[in-house]
Amino acid sequence: MTPYTFPPGYSFFGTYKRALQVVRSPLETMMESVERFGESYSVTDGIRGRMILTQNPEFIDYILRRNQKNYHKSRMVTEKLGRFIGNGLLTSNGSYWLRQRRLIQPGFHPQKVQGLYSIMKTTIDKFVDEFPAGDQVDIYPLMNRLAFDVVLNTLFDIQLPAHTIKQVGKFISEIQEFVIADIRQPYKSWWYELSGTVKENLGKSQHTRNILLEVIRERTSGGKKYNDLLDMLLDARYEDTGEGMNEEQILDEIMILFIAGHETTGNALTWMLYLLATHPEELARLKNETAGLSIQEIISNARLTAVIHESMRLYPPAWVSDRVAMEDDSFEGFSFPKGTIIALFYFGLHRSTKYWDDPLAFNPDRFLKADQKEKSKVFFPFGSGPRLCIGNNFAMAEMAIFLQAFLQKFDLKPTGIKPKMRALITLRPEGVLLNIR
Ligand code: HEM
Repeated sequence: MTPYTFPPGYSFFGTYKRALQVVRSPLETMMESVERFGESYSVTDGIRGRMILTQNPEFIDYILRRNQKNYHKSRMVTEKLGRFIGNGLLTSNGSYWLRQRRLIQPGFHPQKVQGLYSIMKTTIDKFVDEFPAGDQVDIYPLMNRLAFDVVLNTLFDIQLPAHTIKQVGKFISEIQEFVIADIRQPYKSWWYELSGTVKENLGKSQHTRNILLEVIRERTSGGKKYNDLLDMLLDARYEDTGEGMNEEQILDEIMILFIAGHETTGNALTWMLYLLATHPEELARLKNETAGLSIQEIISNARLTAVIHESMRLYPPAWVSDRVAMEDDSFEGFSFPKGTIIALFYFGLHRSTKYWDDPLAFNPDRFLKADQKEKSKVFFPFGSGPRLCIGNNFAMAEMAIFLQAFLQKFDLKPTGIKPKMRALITLRPEGVLLNIR
């Protein structure tokens, strides 16, 4: 008899049956499981032990903030993902993570981000000017490209040939698809190793690293100052030793900032345009209220912020994240041993009738009227606690500047084609086709 009281859930065989459904339709399967067992439930697959999945906001807050010291990122992130994107801010734990966070945090200080607004705006304006308007425009690849360019221009001031950018983008996307397949089907890991799939993806990762390495070497040998994040990473010194990061560490952090910084924002922007196109009254209101604003006014515009928040409530780019317990722990009536993996299901929480009126409706006003403090208890688009997204201010500014510029120039109409949600590491939109004039 186990001395622990896990939340109710699936038996060993039930987990395997469910695993097949998870591969096909993860969001629906997880929401059905919540219906069946409650906000927290458990599964067991014989490989990772009994795992807990939860959309209970109190439990999420407990893990991310109140008892965060007991929770690290799991091996799914540190090893499975880290193997391909490197060991840095997103994928490390403990004292290494804390050292890196302290070193990199100043680069994302609100004042630093403010200093980037004008480069962001120039990049966005160029994109809007060259935007291929027309019927049935496939939005996602374009938004992904924009978000990639914004990171490239604002944080790294790097010039790369168009075909290199395209290839790096493609590799990053393919690596992500592979990693998520491996996480969802751990019983196939041996096959991925044997069949050469792991090697192939490691090759893509190495190729991307080589491109970035060339950029770093050019910088360190050039002597010219760029005053961007890359310069900051090169110049930063650890408080305790006075030393800087070595080349490998800088490379890891750049890879991570590239990936974490563009994929999520590209997804969020795509869902935003889709929601606005399918809600013409919200679109018209936003257009009216944001005409002729200065950059500062755009950043602080309450309606823009509400539209962005409401879109990320319905389609949180980071739809799930996970932690592993370092020591035995308990929460309310449950208890579980150290090593237990806990998945935090933000997508389910953001659409729960328990916390949101008419949760499937797109209604930005709920963020205008609401007590923001109350809302933040049930809304986690950027996570929470010490590992809160380091780029949250950057992303909010980028999305607001883009929406304002894009909507002043274009009119959006839906096509009637329903897009798909692909729940990979991020919630990727597929088939968002809009008529844009
Ligand atoms: C809409 C856009 C974005 C969303 C929704 C988002 C979401 C998140 C979330 C939920 C986390 C926490 C993950 C966890 O607790 O497991 C996170 C972490 C992180 N994000 Fe973002 N992010 C966005 C944009 C950005 C940007 C623009 C950057 C950088 C340029 C960035 C860099 C990072 C990094 C480095 C971490 C790891 C931080 C740490 O663990 O210390 N993100 N992000």
